[in-house]
Amino acid sequence: MNVADRVAALPPYLFARIEKKIEECKSREIDVISLGIGDPDLPTPPHIVQALKEQADNPANHRYPSSVGLPAFRRAVTDWYLKRFDVLLDPGSEVVTLIGSKEGIAHISFCYLNPGDCALIPDPGYPVYGIGAALAGAESYMLPLKAERGFLPDLAAVPADVARRAKILWLNYPNNPTGAVASLDFFQEAVSFARSFDLIICHDAPYTEITFDGYIAPSFLQAPGAREVGIEFHSLSKTYNMTGWRLGWAAGNAEIVRALGSLKSNLDSGAFQAVQYAGIAALTGPQTCVQQMRQVYQERRDIVVSGLRSLGWRVDPPRASIYVWAPVPPPYTSEEFAELVLEKSGVVLTQGNGYGATGEGWFRISLTTPTERLIEAFRRLKETFGTP
Ligand SMILES: Cc1ncc(COP(=O)(O)O)c(C=O)c1O
Repeated sequence: MNVADRVAALPPYLFARIEKKIEECKSREIDVISLGIGDPDLPTPPHIVQALKEQADNPANHRYPSSVGLPAFRRAVTDWYLKRFDVLLDPGSEVVTLIGSKEGIAHISFCYLNPGDCALIPDPGYPVYGIGAALAGAESYMLPLKAERGFLPDLAAVPADVARRAKILWLNYPNNPTGAVASLDFFQEAVSFARSFDLIICHDAPYTEITFDGYIAPSFLQAPGAREVGIEFHSLSKTYNMTGWRLGWAAGNAEIVRALGSLKSNLDSGAFQAVQYAGIAALTGPQTCVQQMRQVYQERRDIVVSGLRSLGWRVDPPRASIYVWAPVPPPYTSEEFAELVLEKSGVVLTQGNGYGATGEGWFRISLTTPTERLIEAFRRLKETFGTP
């Protein structure tokens, strides 16, 4: 039996390909250090785990949850937005709980894209934006993110006929994979663009809390007019080391939130309530764990940046995210370089072109590996590639 065209056309998920290569190396007894996927190695803070344990014992939580999320969780989200960004949201109409933000990111395309429509997608970017558009039968128009523009898209360069067909503009700051950040001025420019062309903005913001050197990331929803045109996706995954728990949300424009909630109510039955209560403990509890996590990543970022520089490889230290994005040293392509590094040093880097054509010539290092393994990775790279 043939699968449907939409499934047959799906590319293999980027990290599925990398996992396969890692398995091959392991079968040759190579001690592989993965600086690939952005999955925090640090554990979920104990008070959050404790909340889950207690709530898992309550039979009321064993039943179907509401697909748009517990009112108490949505209230914790709006309280957090007010405290963190000074943005006042209505928990009843402006927040929908997600089973991890990836779920909502994929599903929003079904709410706004008809076959033949167009989505404006950052390149390089998190692959799910384009996959969602493709599954909805829509086209992706790629917005190149270039170092010389601080990895911000040039919205003025989008041809008017494309902008008129576009229904969604995707943005993601702090950015995966480049680690770039955006100012409120840029978000304001994006709001004006969305108003001019009558499209919605989906801002994907899972890394706002992972910032360095005192930098504080803004929310897209702080930009005047943002709530008229867009929503922001957020997640517990990276801020509280909860990738396995699958809990996130989308917040902002009530109509967009309603559309996503309505689709979801027909597709899923929401996040496990005990997990949502643990999410409340995360958002409303002590935030010292977030501060500690920032320190760990900043220390690792510094190890990576100085390690790359000591090899003579050019890199700018990111001000946020869990990634370091660096140009591939000549004469290699991204793929050749990632394969060479894996083969010679047993170190997994992610090839930049895995995030889009503009990522060619770049590689990404994730900071989610224990610090001593990161140090060992750079010892090996130095051994293999020497000093400049
Ligand atoms: C930019 C970006 N958006 C969304 C996600 C998905 O996160 P979640 O665990 O909330 O599904 C990730 C995960 O790596 C990401 O990098």
